[in-house]
Amino acid sequence: MPYHPAVRILFIADIFGAPGRRAVEMHLPELRAQHGVDLVVANAENAADGVGVTSRIALKLYTAGVDAITLGNHAYRQREVYPFLEADDRIVRPANHAANAPGRGVTVVEAADGTRVAVINLIGQLFLDAAQSPFEVAAGLVADARSQAKVVLVDFHAEATSEKVALGRLLDGRVTAVIGTHTHVQTNDAAVLPGGTAYLTDGGMTGPHDSVIGVKAELAIKRMRTGIPVRFEPAEGGVRLEGALLECDGSGRATSCETFRVSLD
Ligand SMILES: [Fe+2]
Repeated sequence: MPYHPAVRILFIADIFGAPGRRAVEMHLPELRAQHGVDLVVANAENAADGVGVTSRIALKLYTAGVDAITLGNHAYRQREVYPFLEADDRIVRPANHAANAPGRGVTVVEAADGTRVAVINLIGQLFLDAAQSPFEVAAGLVADARSQAKVVLVDFHAEATSEKVALGRLLDGRVTAVIGTHTHVQTNDAAVLPGGTAYLTDGGMTGPHDSVIGVKAELAIKRMRTGIPVRFEPAEGGVRLEGALLECDGSGRATSCETFRVSLD
C-alpha cells in the first residue's frame, strides 16, 4: 500500500455578522496550530451583517487563515462582491446557480502540506432557489473536481436534512467530505460513511447563538408573530465557532469526522 500522509481540514460553518468574523479573526490562528490543521474552508454567506459577503471581508478572512470560502442563497446580496467572485479563485458560490451568474462553483486550493483540495459549493432545491437540481449536476462536478485533486470537499447549503443526507449518500466513496450548511443549528451525526466520505448534516453557525439563528431574537419573533417585514440585526451574545474537523489520507478517503464547537464568550 502506498503511504498517504494525513490531511486535516477544518470546516467553519456559516460565519454570521461581525461577531462571527471577529471569532474567526481572533481565534483561527491559534485553533489552526492547536489542531494541526492543514486547510481551512469557511462558509461566509452571512458574514456581511447576516446577508452575503464583501470582498473586504473575504480578504480579511484569508488573512486570518481561511484558505477557501463557500457561499449559499445569499451569495449575491452584496453587489460589490460580483467582480471579486469572478476574479478571486479561492471563493465559490453554488455550482447549481445559473451558469451565467457571477463566480464559479468549484475551485482547487492547496493545503499547508501541498495537497491539492477541490472545494465544491452546492445549494439545495427544497425551500431554496436552485437553478438546477444538485443531484443532476453533482456527478459531473465531482468528476471535474477529481480530475484536478484527490481530496474533494462539498459544502451542501440546504434547508432540509433529508436532502443533505441523500446527497451525502449519493456521493459516498466519490468525495472526501459532504458538510451541510444553512440551518445554523449543528447536528449530531458526524460520521465517516461506509464508502469513506466524511459527513455532517449541518456544521452549525460561527456567530452569536443567543439569537434566532444569528438574528436578534426579538426581531425574528416580531416578524414571525406579525408577518410584517422587520429589519434584521445580528445578535451579539453566546458566540461560538462551529463546524467540522475531518481527516483524510492523501488518496482522498476520509478517516475521521467530528463536529467542532468552541465557545468564545
Ligand atoms: Fe443560507
